[in-house]
Amino acid sequence: MSTWILADTHLDHTGAKPMSIFGPIWNNHPEVLAEHWQKLIKPEDNVIIAGDISWAMQAEDAVPDLTFLNQLPGCRKILLKGNHDFWWSTKSKVNKLFQGNSLDTLEIMQNEAKLIRNPEEPDEDFILVGSRGWKLPTDNDADAKDKKVYEREKNRFLLSLQDVELLKKREAETRDLPVVAVFHYPPLNKFANDSELTAIIESTGISKVYYGHVHKQHGLDNILCFEGEKNGVSYKNIALDFIECVPVRVEV
Ligand SMILES: [Fe+2]
Ligand SMILES: [Fe+2]
Repeated sequence: MSTWILADTHLDHTGAKPMSIFGPIWNNHPEVLAEHWQKLIKPEDNVIIAGDISWAMQAEDAVPDLTFLNQLPGCRKILLKGNHDFWWSTKSKVNKLFQGNSLDTLEIMQNEAKLIRNPEEPDEDFILVGSRGWKLPTDNDADAKDKKVYEREKNRFLLSLQDVELLKKREAETRDLPVVAVFHYPPLNKFANDSELTAIIESTGISKVYYGHVHKQHGLDNILCFEGEKNGVSYKNIALDFIECVPVRVEV
């Protein structure tokens, strides 16, 4: 079995928010994603979806989009919140929504760590940490409100890291497992300048970071985000257009 990751599914069953206005890569993107997903992902696999899941504004309105994800292969789909997930209010309300609509493969990740097991290959087990993140305080357009949100998201990431040891106790896990981090917003800017988040990432021995949110801008050839290795940590953008609707296998 394998664990797969992607972000920014930007689903909208109503058709009111056609993503194709952002370029041909978004033409029929749910169908294209489903096609790749069905080819790659097995029923026993795990899938991580890192935010901007549905355009729905209300929880009930997100059900068809969540049902679309639920019926695709994968026994465990871990969802993180993006900046566009207005349907996602509180943890308990989202859990109730999942239970009430038999969305039995979906689970949310919020202020916590998750143990991702591979019963066939225990060497591939890892711990997932993360938070939504936000615009970096050093970004030119970050205002005082953004800095406040960033601070809150940084603390949520710290809560997730603090949960690693508790999780190991809960799961009776005694091994030193690799820790993989996932964010919706990239934790560093396109120039790969250091940030508070990169300092935390590096100090905790995380070697793999995935993020989404940054989308391709047609007609522009400039660098949009940092991908690659910095100070022993690899960073990858898994936004749906960046990965051309092909889920990425998590390698630890
Ligand atoms: Fe997005
Ligand atoms: Fe986003």
